[in-house]
Amino acid sequence: MNPEEQNKVLQAWQTSAPYWDKHRALITQMFAPITTGLIEEAQIGVGHNVLDIGGGSGEPSLTISCIVGPTGSVMYTDPVAGMVETAQAEAASRGLTNIEFRKCSADALPFPDSTFDVVVSRLSAMFFGDPVTAVREALRVIVKSGYVSFIVWGPEEANPFFTSVNDVFDRFVESSTEDPDAPDAFRFAAPGKLAAILKNAGAENVIERQLNFQIEAAMSFEQFWQLRTEMSESLREKMAGLRPAQLLTIKQAAADAAQRYFVSGKMNFPAEALIVSGRKSAA
Ligand SMILES: C[S@@+](CC[C@H](N)C(=O)[O-])C[C@H]1O[C@@H](n2cnc3c(N)ncnc32)[C@H](O)[C@@H]1O
Repeated sequence: MNPEEQNKVLQAWQTSAPYWDKHRALITQMFAPITTGLIEEAQIGVGHNVLDIGGGSGEPSLTISCIVGPTGSVMYTDPVAGMVETAQAEAASRGLTNIEFRKCSADALPFPDSTFDVVVSRLSAMFFGDPVTAVREALRVIVKSGYVSFIVWGPEEANPFFTSVNDVFDRFVESSTEDPDAPDAFRFAAPGKLAAILKNAGAENVIERQLNFQIEAAMSFEQFWQLRTEMSESLREKMAGLRPAQLLTIKQAAADAAQRYFVSGKMNFPAEALIVSGRKSAA
């Protein structure tokens, strides 16, 4: 990704930051299974020093801070100022003292070699400008035999939380050309793609696991529509170019597509993610 594209990505996340903060409670609840999956995979426990790359509005850093306890520590990182500010404010409001915040990009980590026990990254690797460099950086800053673990979305067709809305927009609004390496939620959905990047960057014992879970919350379609259309920069962009009547048509079509996932005031989508992990060489 060239610097201009990278800036565009970061600017989009800067605009998204207030919405991720606004919907924090629901996002935490909806994505709790992937936080748990990532923490279990990385075997994070009391006393560990953990680096979180692309921490966004604060997860998984905030959850890990409670797991590692006062003898451990968390270093939250994200290149977007708005994300760092909201995550830091949330940690302060919870009185967390074992967590530090640093504004930086995955491909240039401002830490000495062998600083952390574990590196994790939840739903962020898809937006890295140079994923191989980013994984090399992650391996550089962990101790020998330390673990790096990334969680990313699985295929679109296994994630109706996204497609029930995105597919309808795609029918009405032209999308930019599909580059499989462009920053996008599904950039690493193809099995083996992120694993190959970890191997290329020098990780050993690379493992890819499929995580199937439910995205659940007490929420109506109306609330879901607001959440999805506010959290996503590409949807906000598409909506801005639509007339009110067109938007109503799209919303109704999305409501029809998502209907079966909303029962008795509860939202319940099947979902699929991939956890890709590896070790730094012991040598
Ligand atoms: C989908 S959000 C995930 C945030 C959080 N980890 C979560 O799961 O809620 C993606 C995050 O990746 C961050 N990001 C984008 N480019 C990045 C880069 N080059 N290095 C590190 N993080 C990046 C964004 O700022 C954003 O906070």
